Amino acid sequence: MHLFLPAADAAPFLVDELNRAGAGATLNETTGLVSATSLPSLPYLAFARQAMPEGTEVLEASINGWADHIITRIAGILPDAQPWRLHLWPVYGEGRAGLHRCDLIRAALNERLKKRRRALLRSLVENTEPFTPETSLVQAVLTAPDAGYVSVSAAPQPQNLRAILSPYLGGDIPHAEDKAAPSRAFAKVIESELRLGQQIEKGQTCVDLGASPGSWSYVAIQRGAYVTAIDRSPLRDDLMRNPRLTFQQADAFKFRPTQPVDWLICDIIAAPQRSMDLLLDWLRERQMRRFIVTLKFKGTEEYPLMEQLKEQAPALCTDFRLTRLCANKNEVTAFGVSAWDR
Ligand SMILES: C[S@@+](CC[C@H](N)C(=O)[O-])C[C@H]1O[C@@H](n2cnc3c(N)ncnc32)[C@H](O)[C@@H]1O
Repeated sequence: MHLFLPAADAAPFLVDELNRAGAGATLNETTGLVSATSLPSLPYLAFARQAMPEGTEVLEASINGWADHIITRIAGILPDAQPWRLHLWPVYGEGRAGLHRCDLIRAALNERLKKRRRALLRSLVENTEPFTPETSLVQAVLTAPDAGYVSVSAAPQPQNLRAILSPYLGGDIPHAEDKAAPSRAFAKVIESELRLGQQIEKGQTCVDLGASPGSWSYVAIQRGAYVTAIDRSPLRDDLMRNPRLTFQQADAFKFRPTQPVDWLICDIIAAPQRSMDLLLDWLRERQMRRFIVTLKFKGTEEYPLMEQLKEQAPALCTDFRLTRLCANKNEVTAFGVSAWDR
């Protein structure tokens, strides 16, 4: 069985998405987790926050029982000298009790590793860097004090499944805050960069389609990039005056750069099919190395359209992601690295 944490309020859509891929999914109303009998052959799930491949149910009443269980599960599976990460967290209750219980389980686990598996303890790392082919991921989620699931993804599975397996605990990234940005939409760029493990960098070129009032351009400029911003309306005054920004009042769907750019960032309000077609056209034409493109939905009827993107975009990319970001509303963001990026 494979388990998935749905994006906020998206559990029914995740079930539909998995079932469209023939994965036999059901929602556990009590835990809020979605289980599936198989992983989708195209490993892209817009509505999953985190995947727990081959998750098995755990019933353990005590802290020590949980620690022993996790040790038993990883013994002989994780290679001693390779890095691994442990995500241990509760999805029950509102207060700190679940977090405290997880802290105690972690402490008990560390004690056991210190005594019995020192090499494994040494290779336990805590960070949210992108997975490398050597990284393994162990996840233990408590759905109640005495129940939950454990999933062990031995290297190189985390990197292979990076489009659905997040280096962030539970796949959660807190909203970025910046009161000086023209709007809160800037958080979508920051979150996409974090998930991709790549940032817009100093000196890079960037096309921002549907750029007004300018918070995506604002992030790119802060990073030191050169931005061509396209919109029907101008951006905030200070951005319009910025020497690293060129503004064109034009139809974003008709715009093409004179030469390929480092980043396409696109947040146009448009039908999702149009934004998907734009992304696929830019990829086929090799117009950009990396991209962040929002698909905006009205209602829920058009979610199945994304299957077309899952089928066509990965062949044009070395890294393709499609996810409802924590910072998204009724949107899904496609981001990644094009196949011709070096
Ligand atoms: C959600 S806003 C973009 C917000 C922006 N990313 C930010 O962070 O400030 C969408 C923008 O798309 C623009 N837009 C919609 N259709 C467009 C088109 N065909 N050509 C250019 N801009 C368009 C709208 O004018 C609007 O400013």
